Amino acid sequence: MSLFTPFKLGSITIPNRIGMSALTRNRSTATVPNEIMQKYYVERALGGAGLIVTEGTLITRQGTEWPQAPGIWDPAQVVGWKKITDAVHEAGSKIYCQIWHLGRVSHPDAPEQIAAGVPVYAPSAISARGGKFRFLPGHPGYVTPTEVPDPTTIIAQFKQAAINAKEAGFDGVELHGANGYIVAQFLDSTANKRTDKWGGSPENRARFALDTLKALIEVFGPDVSIKISPAGGYNDVGMPLQETIDTFGYLLREANKLGLSYVTLVRYSAASDPEIDGKKRATEHDVVATFSPFLTNTPVFVNCGVTPAEAEQLVNSGTAAGVFFGFSWVTHPDVGKRIKAGKELDNVPNFAHLYGAVGVDPALGYVDYPGM
Ligand code: PHB
Repeated sequence: MSLFTPFKLGSITIPNRIGMSALTRNRSTATVPNEIMQKYYVERALGGAGLIVTEGTLITRQGTEWPQAPGIWDPAQVVGWKKITDAVHEAGSKIYCQIWHLGRVSHPDAPEQIAAGVPVYAPSAISARGGKFRFLPGHPGYVTPTEVPDPTTIIAQFKQAAINAKEAGFDGVELHGANGYIVAQFLDSTANKRTDKWGGSPENRARFALDTLKALIEVFGPDVSIKISPAGGYNDVGMPLQETIDTFGYLLREANKLGLSYVTLVRYSAASDPEIDGKKRATEHDVVATFSPFLTNTPVFVNCGVTPAEAEQLVNSGTAAGVFFGFSWVTHPDVGKRIKAGKELDNVPNFAHLYGAVGVDPALGYVDYPGM
């Protein structure tokens, strides 16, 4: 088995094992996907991505720190995405929509949250420490959210997003269960202090993720996946090791029965575990070794800091069905082709234009990286 052996992923076949992970780029027209995004995704489809996962795509109006993150709750967004999925398919690749709800790390003063007319909902009324709403006056941090009275209302929004994603021509959906967003907030005992069936035991904290996956499967059948980061401290989550194993082990044991197309295991990285009050937040451990044994029936994709040589080894040894590269796809439109050709990933990052901003040419640092 090599990185370039095609793989049956749910109901589709991907041409190779090199995925492009979700990457926030903040280039939509407000929240509507547009032509420059199409250009960006098509460049990467042509550049040898076996599977593209979109940037985090909002399932409902939320006060995100990225005012130009795309959504998938509105017909205009579906029209925009349909052009992109058609073009990616034309270019020979496949594309999943990463569906995203931020929970407590939304801001009530952001225009979309105001337009939504609902509070910032989260599992419990516990603020994440930190925050970076750079586009709001005073650059405020996170706020204390409102405990969502009935979590099934958000599960229904995820399901509607999947219905919309299907209409938009996506090959599947990846539930964003990583990096301290709403699914991770429900899983995490420091963010979720509920006393009803959605909080407390690992079973109860995993209920939101599992019920959401089941709702997505009603729409997409075998083309549903989840990304998790058990060793991630981003957005102020993280539990002691035994509790992490109990929680994510339960989640994966149950998820393994659902016939998911893949699970992405995000490894520990110091960069995704920023210090809070002078301390690292997460519990560093070997995520792949700890959690892949639970996935006897589910392909594993490994993400975070994977090098091309290591990717080949992970697939060759059967440790992973595939890998996701992240930042390399920002700076190279043709990661897959370069790896195949044995060429270095040596483009120089344009950090100043990593994220788009209103009034700045969106092409800069986006669709101007050279192919090999
Ligand atoms: C970010 O926009 O900074 C971001 C979004 C989603 C992630 C991680 C980081 O999973």
